[in-house]
Amino acid sequence: MPFPQVQSPPPGGVEALPDFYGGLLTEARERTLWLVAPVSDRDADRQHNSIASPLAWDLGHIAAFEDLWLCHRAGGLAPLRPDLWDVYDATETPRSDRGQLEFLPLREARAFMDEVRARTLEVLARADLSQSSDPLNARGFVWEMVLRHEHQHNETMLQGLQLAPAEIFVPERSPIAGLARGSRPEMVTVAAGPFLLGAGHDEFAYDNERARHEFELPAFAIDRTPVTVGQYLEWIEGGGYGRREHWSAEGWAWRCREDVERPLYLGADGQTRSFERVGTPRLAEPVMHVSWFEADAFARAHGKRLPTEAEWEKAATWDEAAGAKRTYPWGEAVPDPALANLDQTAFAPAPVGAHPKGASAYGVLGMVGDTWEWTASDFRAYPGFAAFPYREYSEIFFGAGYRVLRGGSWATRARTASTTFRNWDLPQRRQIFAGFRCVGEA
Ligand code: AVJ
Ligand code: FE
Repeated sequence: MPFPQVQSPPPGGVEALPDFYGGLLTEARERTLWLVAPVSDRDADRQHNSIASPLAWDLGHIAAFEDLWLCHRAGGLAPLRPDLWDVYDATETPRSDRGQLEFLPLREARAFMDEVRARTLEVLARADLSQSSDPLNARGFVWEMVLRHEHQHNETMLQGLQLAPAEIFVPERSPIAGLARGSRPEMVTVAAGPFLLGAGHDEFAYDNERARHEFELPAFAIDRTPVTVGQYLEWIEGGGYGRREHWSAEGWAWRCREDVERPLYLGADGQTRSFERVGTPRLAEPVMHVSWFEADAFARAHGKRLPTEAEWEKAATWDEAAGAKRTYPWGEAVPDPALANLDQTAFAPAPVGAHPKGASAYGVLGMVGDTWEWTASDFRAYPGFAAFPYREYSEIFFGAGYRVLRGGSWATRARTASTTFRNWDLPQRRQIFAGFRCVGEA
């Protein structure tokens, strides 16, 4: 069974799209509210960490974004609360200042979400989502965009909940499905040659994933599985954090300035924390909550390096025998729990190699789900880039020192998990559910 919200477009074609998006938006909202349900009003209204928004801000922002894009821009209605635009404009107010804003507290944010959603569904009922409609509505583009925006904020909310004190969030965990025996750490060779990088014409994609273009790569070898907690602890025990020669100049400066000695949620006592749970690290899981600098240092220490995003995408999607690009590492089937650990409810990654059915054509495992993976690449435009539908989604971040992350994590909703999706963050950030794998000489 696929994850709940991953369905192909309806067989009825564009006629059926309004109902289809109505159902998906409802499901997205149920998930958002399920995630916040265990959190008290007081904890939702406070900023617990300077790099995360208050939870109530995320809720108000989800509603404001929906009102702006669906009700106002796609539906032509006057905005419901123009007075809140500045408060919820992510580019105007950096995360660190969001605690000071006059954002709606949880109760009022919930009411605002309901009010917007009622308007959204009215707009949807009379929307023209046919091919010949305006660029926002045609084939449902902006509806898919707003749906995915809510999905993406779910993951940001989970990052904030993990950053907050342990007692504020006790998740209701489901077991990870599809678990199999782990595989041995080893590298897989990807032969030299061209492949196709980026999202195709016909599918929903963000502007920064376009245009799909041919990309030539020399041969390389890539880790079959992400670096595990066990491997990472061995590096720490070998003195990795104290050995200048393992680090880039910038990474070493960061590590000294911040006095970093281990991943974010691992304590000096050797205990690690996941939400409210504190315990012994699980060695077979992929390491998470390391910065790009730490990932880069680990790779250097082992005579390897981080993959470029092109290398990552080739290893994840290219079927050399067929000379064709796959949608997912395993092929065209939509994600399900036997293929990848996605969609949040496990609240943890699986041991590496646990989803052998999710292998790429090259035999690489765990490319989608479990943890985001840092790549060596700076976040920049692909050739032929055109901002759509707004510059602030990605263009303003190009060339500003952000590094690309790929693949999605356990906290990523399955519908947004794509092998061409480019996530980005600063190299010192550790709140993302992110780890890495290494590449080396073929
Ligand atoms: C793609 C995760 C970097 O959180 O800044 C949410 C997604 N954009 N609202 C972000 C996003 C607008 C974005 N990331
Ligand atoms: Fe947003």
